[in-house]
Amino acid sequence: MKKYRVAVVGATGVVGKEIITILEDRKFPVSELVPLASERSAGAEVVFHGDSVEVLALGPDSFKGVDIALFSAGGSVSAEYCPIAAKSGAVCIDNTSHFRMDPTVPLVVPEVNADAIKQHKGIIANPNCSTAQLVVALKPIYDAAGIERIVISTYQSVSGAGTAGLDELESQTRANLRGVDAPPEKFSHHIAFNLIPQIDSFLENGYTKEEIKMVNEIKKILGDDKIRVTATAVRVPVFVSHSESVNIQTKKPITAEKVRELLEAAPGVQVLDNPAEGVYPTPRNVAGEDDVFVGRIRKDISQENGIEFWCVGDNLRKGAALNAVQIAEAWCDQNTTKPQ
Ligand SMILES: NC(=O)c1ccc[n+]([C@@H]2O[C@H](COP(=O)([O-])OP(=O)(O)OC[C@H]3O[C@@H](n4cnc5c(N)ncnc54)[C@H](OP(=O)(O)O)[C@@H]3O)[C@@H](O)[C@H]2O)c1
Repeated sequence: MKKYRVAVVGATGVVGKEIITILEDRKFPVSELVPLASERSAGAEVVFHGDSVEVLALGPDSFKGVDIALFSAGGSVSAEYCPIAAKSGAVCIDNTSHFRMDPTVPLVVPEVNADAIKQHKGIIANPNCSTAQLVVALKPIYDAAGIERIVISTYQSVSGAGTAGLDELESQTRANLRGVDAPPEKFSHHIAFNLIPQIDSFLENGYTKEEIKMVNEIKKILGDDKIRVTATAVRVPVFVSHSESVNIQTKKPITAEKVRELLEAAPGVQVLDNPAEGVYPTPRNVAGEDDVFVGRIRKDISQENGIEFWCVGDNLRKGAALNAVQIAEAWCDQNTTKPQ
């Protein structure tokens, strides 16, 4: 079996660490792992298949001989280094938002649009975490009944804001329980014992960038510009897993039972839906899982062709690292010609 030299850019971050774990768990054919981070972490070590591997400082020469480069070190790092890595012959899979809406860059969730990978010119984008988990659940409904409009409210965990987000929820919670105030640093308001209806910065139209990412990315992945999408993204004091309340209006009538049946058969989805017994997904029981979990599936009583559901996914896995590794697997399967 062919093996690949794989670079992980941002190897010391929450997503980078998860990528390394998933490469190992899924037995991805790695001939050599090249963990990269900033100068700050150069010399640190990561463990891969029981061996310690030294973290190297990212630089223009980091990609010589690299076949696959998985980026999760922020948009500015991807903007500078993806083109360098692609030029030296690596296929880049980018977790940041930098290239997602570039028309020459495929934006991929393999369960939905793996074929788009074939169009790549050296860079393949991984969607925003809330988008990745949701399109897996939307796709079978879209195929069966079409989708006119989607209204989403998210409940996003602090790990979506990286290591600093995790640290702030933990330290602020501990401080507050001791009766000590701990002013916000990473987030715009206290996150412990609170909710923040702001993720990323505000745009002139009153939406946040995070919300507009969902609007644009859902349309690009489903390949349908006509779907009307609106979203409100909220940060919640949960460590891992994003939850979403989703309301859709389909083009053709569809029953809640049919939606349940479609989702039960869909790849990457598990239905947990027995409200009478208190069975539905929660972020705590979904953390660490690969699938997207859906529950509370019901007919919307306020409109024709309306369906409501609740969708939970591990943002570090399906929302980032797992989806990136699945793209790499699909790229290997498709035997895509490497960029020149
Ligand atoms: N967390 C999520 O759920 C999620 C989901 C989808 C996409 N993403 C995206 O993935 C990226 C990383 O997120 P994260 O949550 O893993 O953040 P994180 O925990 O803060 O990790 C950031 C990583 O980037 C590295 N880095 C920072 N500046 C660098 C530079 N100038 N050169 C090289 N490496 C640098 C850091 O290395 P040092 O140790 O040297 O600082 C660290 O390894 C972000 O762009 C984020 O938007 C995150």
